[in-house]
Amino acid sequence: MSASKGVAENMLWGGRFTQGLDPLMVQYNQSLPYDRILWQQDIRGSLAFARANTKGGILTAHEFSEIERGFAQIATEWRTNTFLVKENDEDIHTANERRLSEIIGKDIGGKLHTGRSRNEQIATDMRLWLRDELRQLDVWLCDLIKVSVARAESELDYLMPGYTHLQKAQPVRWSHFLLSHATAFASELQRLREVIRRVNKSPLGTGALAGNPFQIDREMMAEELGFEGLLYNSMNAVADRDFAMETMQWGSSFMLKISRWAEDLIIYSSLEFGFVRLSDAYSTGSSLMPQKKNADSLELLRGKSGRAFGHMAGLMCTIKGLPTTYNKDLQESVEPLLDHIKTVGDSIQIATGVLSTLTAIPEKMIAALAPEMLATEFADYLVRKGVPFREGHHISGQVVQLAEQNKVPMDTLTVEQLKTVDARFDDDVRACLDYERAVELKDAVGGTSRRAVLEQTAVLKKLL
Ligand code: ARG
Repeated sequence: MSASKGVAENMLWGGRFTQGLDPLMVQYNQSLPYDRILWQQDIRGSLAFARANTKGGILTAHEFSEIERGFAQIATEWRTNTFLVKENDEDIHTANERRLSEIIGKDIGGKLHTGRSRNEQIATDMRLWLRDELRQLDVWLCDLIKVSVARAESELDYLMPGYTHLQKAQPVRWSHFLLSHATAFASELQRLREVIRRVNKSPLGTGALAGNPFQIDREMMAEELGFEGLLYNSMNAVADRDFAMETMQWGSSFMLKISRWAEDLIIYSSLEFGFVRLSDAYSTGSSLMPQKKNADSLELLRGKSGRAFGHMAGLMCTIKGLPTTYNKDLQESVEPLLDHIKTVGDSIQIATGVLSTLTAIPEKMIAALAPEMLATEFADYLVRKGVPFREGHHISGQVVQLAEQNKVPMDTLTVEQLKTVDARFDDDVRACLDYERAVELKDAVGGTSRRAVLEQTAVLKKLL
């Protein structure tokens, strides 16, 4: 007898299969190498299922307590890394069930799966696992926002160039810049909380596709497992991977934000800018050029966002075009999800580490401010004297031009020179050249004045 014949005989669904599987097919089919991470969720789901079947009279109280005893031992084995995987353990569900029957005997162990399908089981395990992971991400994301807010408060005095098109635009507070990203993170936090609500629905008790024939109490199981609500269509419950897709869409959106944040800090940490210095804990040197300090952490945050988008796009391609309900293709939703969550979780923590340890260098920020960034202040000055903005804008453009023609910085022009451009310039125009004043004038909600920035920190704190 060939070894592969033995394989089929021991398979849980092996009753109808007389010929062995190609050994490579056994491996190809196996998800245990990665879905073993779900061992705890699988056991919790099985216990809830067995408890509900006990209530429904499918199992006796004694049988249930045997099942409980068996799973307690299996849990210990997983926890202590002593669970012995057998060749035919296709996935976490078959592995746990096989082991259960070994411990408590096939007579009782064989009753566990009554009315149940692995289709509902994997969906249940993944949702349980994902819900808890996402709750952890929520905590980490709050930390990142908290660090941003704390820095914004303690470094409120620092002024820096604000950029559009990566060109110096108008002076802003460094805090305002930090909060611009924190505000984006906060939107992601809100989205995440939405996603968690939809992930946390119970597919347990929906069978292979058509539902459960033994009147199982689905509400009771959902409650035991901490699900908030049921999935109401069994065919949808086993086919649906929206929870994974939406999570990865969320994760991709978050990684996009963190990637842009990282890009800003990469630029600001360059010698040319020098606004920030990364701590040694999050940068590395060059093996060749001793003077270099590379922002590896930030570059990886930017780089890993591509990987996260890939998980999302990959799963969408896998699912698109599947015929109705469960198809084995869906097994391919597990690995990208695991890697996605790890990538996003690590990234949030690294970002928090980078931000809480970097040094901001206000002298460099100030030095990078250029008088030309105050050109709008001249226009606003004229507006306050009753000049229509369009005309004021034109006149301040001429001021910039005059400075350029004389090859001097704009702030060295005399009031007399300004008067040659427009007679309405007066001595008080010199106030326009004060960066702090320019920043403080942006005092409407959302602006860069001290008050407006502190208002933003208050809004964020409320969300946390
Ligand atoms: N390991 C499988 C998965 O991840 C479990 C479900 C198997 N169901 C089936 N009908 N073969 O999707």
